[in-house]
Amino acid sequence: MDYMKLSAYVDSRKREYLDELSGIIRIESVSADPLKKKEMVRCAEAISGLMREAGIENVELFETQGNPLVYGEYVHADDNPTVLVYGHYDVQPVDPLSEWETPPFEAAVRGDDLYARGSSDDKGQLFMHLKAFEALRKLNENMPVNLKYIFEGEEEIGSIHLEPFIRSHKDLLKADAVVISDTAMYGRDIPTICYGLRGMAYLELSVSNSAIDLHSGSFGGAIENPVHVLADIVSRLHDKYGRVTVPHFYDDVVDVPNEEREEIARLPYTDAEFLRQSGAVAVYGEYGFTTNERLWIRPTLDVNGIYGGFTGEGAKTIIPSKATAKVSMRLVPDQKSEKILELFESFIDQIAPPTVKVTVRKMHSGEPALTPIDHPAVKAASEALEQVFGKKPYFIREGGSIPEVLTFQEALGTPVVLLGFGLPDEKSHAPNEHLYLRHFYDGIKTIAILFEKLSSRGFAPGI
Ligand code: BES
Ligand code: ZN
Repeated sequence: MDYMKLSAYVDSRKREYLDELSGIIRIESVSADPLKKKEMVRCAEAISGLMREAGIENVELFETQGNPLVYGEYVHADDNPTVLVYGHYDVQPVDPLSEWETPPFEAAVRGDDLYARGSSDDKGQLFMHLKAFEALRKLNENMPVNLKYIFEGEEEIGSIHLEPFIRSHKDLLKADAVVISDTAMYGRDIPTICYGLRGMAYLELSVSNSAIDLHSGSFGGAIENPVHVLADIVSRLHDKYGRVTVPHFYDDVVDVPNEEREEIARLPYTDAEFLRQSGAVAVYGEYGFTTNERLWIRPTLDVNGIYGGFTGEGAKTIIPSKATAKVSMRLVPDQKSEKILELFESFIDQIAPPTVKVTVRKMHSGEPALTPIDHPAVKAASEALEQVFGKKPYFIREGGSIPEVLTFQEALGTPVVLLGFGLPDEKSHAPNEHLYLRHFYDGIKTIAILFEKLSSRGFAPGI
């Protein structure tokens, strides 16, 4: 296909794209909020509507025990490969609301960026796929590949219902490659392919004692304080080298070969830029590893939040009845989330004092995943990026997680191409999330070109 024609077509549609994306963004599809169930369904329906308008066929909502899955397909390219596109329409909560410069669900263009919850993660990127399809339909008589789409509304809470769906719908989802746009590029206008994601094991750690808060004058010093115990446990989860102290935590971590570490070291990186992106005071982490290694090839443990007792205005004198920490562990190959959660639980059993009750509640998990970078579908993505961005892409891993990547690979026997267009400083999960508009438009073009490349390079089904 004529690239100039595609590029001109996409550029001529910018206004329309922004209007339509704003409509999807307006729906408050926060999966973590149990009060937003209706919005989840509305969002799934709105996306189905856009899919149908784009020309995608057999669009269907699949009910689950949780939020609906959206499926659609366009299967007409007899001898050509089939691509399964995955994305998520759920978004993270928006608090603290007061930190947003404009309301989170009202898309607003400021400078080169579109600001809104979900603009980058992942409504904006999911939408790019719909527009790439539409552009190809409008410009081409024949679609270069067969396409299948599966969009979920529970990625941000661990994709609990997608996993069994993939396993029980292997025929429906059968494809030669999976393409996901839900990761970040290495920097502005730096084309990037991600070939590795970390896994995740999430849990809640609670320490409790009395049934209710007690007067600290009548009881303080004579019973154990759950907040003290929790703080003590949390302080014992890392050693002075920044390593996680849970016994056997590192047992299954695969040593990354030197060549790969050298590749990682060759990527442009400065502490100054990393500190600008994060707004943090200093870099920090496991001794013996660089920042990118700490993020990409090493497992980590973080407390996401900790609460207990009195945190209101003024002063109140109590011994809290309970204290809780939300703990997540990011995992790397070949760690298994189930085993890691068990190791954590036994460590807590071992160090918990007998003066309180300590419990671990497992929440969600996902496995780490790597993509074979020499696969023809990855090569096609690399060529598509080069054509649109004018430079060869960087190959990076990322520290985030997309829980079902490994399930797609295992259940369908296909590689997953991580072709994301976000940026590390786009504040996903935080106030003022935004999407760099040039990546938005160039991403649409890249996806369309990728499908052309997959077809014209004779990437036969079953490879
Ligand atoms: N889009 C992100 C994953 C991501 C983040 C990839 C950063 C690359 C870099 C995704 O929507 C996400 O945030 N996933 C959660 C999954 C978790 C809740 C199991 C994550 O990584 O925290
Ligand atoms: Zn995402």
